[in-house]
Amino acid sequence: MSVQERRLIYANVGKPGYTPDIDCYLKHGGYEALKKAFAMKPEEVCKEVTASGLRGRGGAGFPTGMKWSFLDRKSGKPIYLVVNADESEPGTYKDRQIIYFDPHQIIEGTLITAYAIQAKQAFIYIRGEFQNGAKYLEKAIAEAKAKNLCGDKILGSDYSVEIVVHRGGGCYVCGEETGLIESLEGKRGYPRIKPPYFPAVLGLYNCPTIVNNAETMAQVKHVVSLGGAEFAKIGVPGDSGTHIWGVSGLVKKPGLYEIEAGKATFGQLLNDFCGGPLDGRKFKAIIPGGSSTKILKFGERFKGKLPNGTEFDWALEDIPLDSNSIAACGTGLGTGGTIVLDDSVEMIQALANLNAFYAHETCGQCTPCREGSLWLSRISKRVCSGKGREEDPALLLDIANQVAGRTICAHGEAVAWPVQSAVPKFKDEYLDSIRRAKAGEQSPYTLKLI
Ligand SMILES: Cc1cc2nc3c(=O)[nH]c(=O)nc-3n(C[C@H](O)[C@H](O)[C@H](O)COP(=O)(O)O)c2cc1C
Repeated sequence: MSVQERRLIYANVGKPGYTPDIDCYLKHGGYEALKKAFAMKPEEVCKEVTASGLRGRGGAGFPTGMKWSFLDRKSGKPIYLVVNADESEPGTYKDRQIIYFDPHQIIEGTLITAYAIQAKQAFIYIRGEFQNGAKYLEKAIAEAKAKNLCGDKILGSDYSVEIVVHRGGGCYVCGEETGLIESLEGKRGYPRIKPPYFPAVLGLYNCPTIVNNAETMAQVKHVVSLGGAEFAKIGVPGDSGTHIWGVSGLVKKPGLYEIEAGKATFGQLLNDFCGGPLDGRKFKAIIPGGSSTKILKFGERFKGKLPNGTEFDWALEDIPLDSNSIAACGTGLGTGGTIVLDDSVEMIQALANLNAFYAHETCGQCTPCREGSLWLSRISKRVCSGKGREEDPALLLDIANQVAGRTICAHGEAVAWPVQSAVPKFKDEYLDSIRRAKAGEQSPYTLKLI
């Protein structure tokens, strides 16, 4: 294999003899980055993170240092740090592995971030289903406190911060940062309108709040260890560090692969790392970055210009694994949770699954999302049950177009994007499925998804 993994976050995950306790973590250089950060001024730590070019790993890829710079530090209100360990995006399972196998990385990154932004209270919001994950994090916090790495006057300094693990009820929208904040406040997890509720200004308890993904916290630890400038050398301009690709679906070796940003392509990920398609099968499509990112079809050509002006003309297999390249192909790197579909899958069934998920998870606040997701789900199920109409692909698209961009939070995009990408790309197949099901003909697709 020409490209190898480059493990920063998963350096010790899965290593024989490596255990998720503090003694093992300390033996492997744990909490040295925290000590380094404490020898710096908080604003110097912020500068290192900005210089590193780190982008958040929660899905939107927002630059972490820039987010921290938006904090309203003049309000006189307490500052909060909220770590998002909800990980509800279908196809995404990268944070869970850090929590289960190396939780102190998240705790160390959380402490560094809290210090950098001068938060006195941090929360880790974890989805309720990760029962053991919450216990591991609580254990890690207790271990760190026992060694004066967390809590009162950390490492003999004047700085104190508490970290509380909060279990969510298990709801996709509670992963959205403002829905999460509402839920953390003990309310129904309805996302808030921005403006005015930008968390860095009006967040938890209407105080300035930074919400960052759990892996982003682990990355911060490495930024401080290496220094911002060194970290920025990993990856490509515009996307530094590593990405953890969590591949699932119809490949020989699904799993988590940590790869330097931009240093491999989807072809290498799927064929070299994941062993290629199952025997006798051909790849058909991927959903590249968690279920809400736009689908990419094998055989399509992707042409355009990168932000640096470079023109490209790629097959799906050629797309480099970095945020800017993937975005230039009309989709997103998202959480790196790549779902692989092969030629045994009937696309309308795959779409019906996604539509059902988003219809179930809409919080119902915004009419386009509440009604639109429901109708999308009903129509795609109708097609699957053999009662589809020739006009259904156009109808699906029309509904999706009326949801995206018209909602309080990006759940609306998550509802619309699978439809807006899959329907035009697989229109002929949808029409075939509708005709065949109506005529009662045998389906050539062997995998039953619904
Ligand atoms: C519907 C929805 C669900 C989301 N779920 C998660 C999640 O489970 N975990 C996460 O980190 N971010 C999730 N996000 C993104 C968060 O709103 C936010 O952008 C992220 O936590 C910021 O962290 P980062 O800057 O470190 O990437 C979700 C967004 C939306 C719209």
